[in-house]
Amino acid sequence: MKKIIIIGAGGHGQVVADALLLMKEAEPVAFLDENPALIGTEVLGIPVPGGNSYLSKIEHDGVVLALGNNALRKRIFEELTKAGENLFTVIHPSAIISPSVKIGAGCMILAGAVINTGAEIKDNTIINTNSTIEHHNMIGPHAHIAPGSTLGGEVTVGEESMVGIGATVLPRVIIGNKAMLGAGSTATRKIPDGVTAAGMPAKRLKF
Ligand SMILES: CC(C)(COP(=O)(O)OP(=O)(O)OC[C@H]1O[C@@H](n2cnc3c(N)ncnc32)[C@H](O)[C@@H]1OP(=O)(O)O)[C@@H](O)C(=O)NCCC(=O)NCCS
Repeated sequence: MKKIIIIGAGGHGQVVADALLLMKEAEPVAFLDENPALIGTEVLGIPVPGGNSYLSKIEHDGVVLALGNNALRKRIFEELTKAGENLFTVIHPSAIISPSVKIGAGCMILAGAVINTGAEIKDNTIINTNSTIEHHNMIGPHAHIAPGSTLGGEVTVGEESMVGIGATVLPRVIIGNKAMLGAGSTATRKIPDGVTAAGMPAKRLKF
């Protein structure tokens, strides 16, 4: 049984822990979290001894970064990879994943997610509850596909981008890097790098 440390004991971390508890080959041994209110407590029966400095003090085979903020998750992923840590991919047993799918390191594939033929999920990406990644999607590193979203065939999602809860991306549409598609929105054409778009069809938000 691989011993896995979960970084982040918040809501998302607890969802990731639930998935990990159901995996046959791995188990959560600790949460690490900088929140003083959590340090010294147990969350879901899993100890929270302290923040990230505890990584070297606890025996483990892998780490998963249960942090919703894509930029923060990317930074810590790069630091830990450089330090030689094994970034572990958590897959909830109820996820349906085609055998042809490629999944990178440190990903979180959560309950009810469907990932179809030929899709590629790069490192440190969250494929959240009940989302559908259709055939031949390319989901970039450090991205987050939020719960209940649906991506048609051959969609590309760039690095550090987010597809909001319940959003839809039409087939072959490109979501650029560090882009955001709002909750419940429908992307009918490309969302450029760094742009937040929302609505149906999704339009660039004015700030
Ligand atoms: C798109 C989003 C990032 C915009 O957030 P924001 O920058 O704080 O924008 P605001 O809430 O100030 O809204 C700006 C305008 O966009 C509209 N808007 C915001 N989100 C929208 C959405 N999802 N769909 C349609 N319109 C939206 C607002 O009504 C507002 O319109 P107005 O200027 O006419 O009043 C945010 O609303 C969103 O959808 N986030 C996704 C959250 C999510 O899915 N999280 C997953 C967690 S697991």
